[in-house]
Amino acid sequence: MTVDKSETRVRRMFGEIAGRYDFLNHLLSLGIDRYWRSQTVKRVAPVGDRPLLDICTGTGDLALAYFKRTKGTVPIVAADFCPEMLTIGKQKGAQAGANGELTFIEADAQRLPFPDDAFQIVSVAFGLRNVADTDRGLSEMTRVCRPGGRVAVLEFSSPRRQPLRALYNWYFRHVLPRVGQAVSRSRLSAYDYLPSSVGEFPSGEALAERMRTAGLCDVTFTPLTFGIATLYVGTKG
Ligand SMILES: C[S@@+](CC[C@H](N)C(=O)[O-])C[C@H]1O[C@@H](n2cnc3c(N)ncnc32)[C@H](O)[C@@H]1O
Repeated sequence: MTVDKSETRVRRMFGEIAGRYDFLNHLLSLGIDRYWRSQTVKRVAPVGDRPLLDICTGTGDLALAYFKRTKGTVPIVAADFCPEMLTIGKQKGAQAGANGELTFIEADAQRLPFPDDAFQIVSVAFGLRNVADTDRGLSEMTRVCRPGGRVAVLEFSSPRRQPLRALYNWYFRHVLPRVGQAVSRSRLSAYDYLPSSVGEFPSGEALAERMRTAGLCDVTFTPLTFGIATLYVGTKG
């Protein structure tokens, strides 16, 4: 069965779990999600002071990781279409001491309200999978990235090797949805949606090819933590 990724459902689902999102993220990934974002910031590091955009930013963890790395020298825009997630992101930004350098904006990844060629890096962490039209999201990311700039996609994938693959599948299909549901009490079963949406989403070469079709070149992908997540990076020609 195809996962329902209609904008209204996805926005409501994240709105419903926003208050528990960070706690569950760190709990269910055993804190490894922080390492994946830190790897993204390290491998796709900003150069100079041109602005950077993080889409599907949620509660802003990747945007904040970039903010901490650049220490306020690079303007960062963090965009998401779910106001409840953005509210938490703004609070975290204020706690981290960000003022004008980190701006949270409500925007749909499929219709980004920015001019062409505006950002040196356009990133997304665990968000593209949720965007109803993946190709539209990728082409919008590419459009607003400046020539020579980079588009970074951090996303879940499945480990290839046994026995880790079997263990991961068991955890992802049985443990994670139950713990997620018990803690979040999501009426829209957000933590059933997670493994289903990962299972349907292209990974490895398949996603790299979609990035090339969106207009990116030199696309690379790097499995992280035995392939539980993968970082894809492409350059706008
Ligand atoms: C799994 S969360 C990821 C949040 C954050 N990037 C992180 O690393 O934790 C996915 C986010 O994507 C957002 N999202 C999904 N579809 C979107 C769209 N079409 N436009 C903007 N945001 C979207 C959701 O609102 C949610 O905040």
